[in-house]
Amino acid sequence: MLISGSELFQAAKKGGYAVGAFNLNNMEILQAIIEAAEEENSPVFLQASQGGIKYAGIEYIAGMARVAAEKAKVPVALNLDHGTSFTQVVQCVRHGFSAVMIDGSQLSYEDNIAITQKCVEVAHPNGVSVEAELGKIGGVEDDIVVDEKDASYTDPKEAAEFVERTKVDALAIAIGTAHGLYKGEPKLAFDRLQEIASMTDVPLVLHGASGISDEQIRKAVPYGITKINIDTDLRVAFSQAIKDLLAEKPGEIDPRKILGPAKAAMKEVARAKMRLFGSAGRA
Ligand code: G3H
Ligand code: ZN
Repeated sequence: MLISGSELFQAAKKGGYAVGAFNLNNMEILQAIIEAAEEENSPVFLQASQGGIKYAGIEYIAGMARVAAEKAKVPVALNLDHGTSFTQVVQCVRHGFSAVMIDGSQLSYEDNIAITQKCVEVAHPNGVSVEAELGKIGGVEDDIVVDEKDASYTDPKEAAEFVERTKVDALAIAIGTAHGLYKGEPKLAFDRLQEIASMTDVPLVLHGASGISDEQIRKAVPYGITKINIDTDLRVAFSQAIKDLLAEKPGEIDPRKILGPAKAAMKEVARAKMRLFGSAGRA
């Protein structure tokens, strides 16, 4: 069933676990995520970035996700990932998304508050949750590029005030993760996470979580991380499975036989994340 993101955030906060949020761009990715959630009896966030929406078309993304959520035996929320404009948020609300993220992290603090307030005003009366971002997460997420030198941690005092003034349902924080493939071994700033968690009760969101060690994820969740975003790890599983298949069977031309193993590989990655995040068995 499709439910509001706020229900998933609140249940996760209460239960002390995090829900995985996985990016979809086509049917096979969507099915891999949903099948993983069902097999693990886990709630799940499906999410589409602006790039994903541009690629597939919002009618396809929203339509496919709605069908999948309606058929699913577990609670599913459909989230806009890193929306950067009010217009994009409104479009997603109109197309039945049950959660949106407004990423105003490129704006000044006051402008970030203003755009987030505006999105909350339109989303909440429609039963749609709002996630915002404070601080700057480095790396590349589709059309959003943040150079390493421009990345900056979330300020705990600002976080508390931001949540108070915007009434967001969840806050994405910058504590050392980055989008995309890591060059070195990423280290989370646990002191910063602890400070943020001590200043606000809002459910926290960890972005750029592909490539973060299991140990650090396990340590982070109890601080109130309730949603963990994974995209790159699914992309790697998808492309590696296709490369392997075509290396073994260069003459294969049936898309189902090429994409089937890719779907299976993504499903295994998603299942392992659900167990790691503690959401398995919580549907
Ligand atoms: O918003 C999406 C995520 O933060 C994905 O990050 O590609 O590093 O897993 P990732
Ligand atoms: Zn992200």
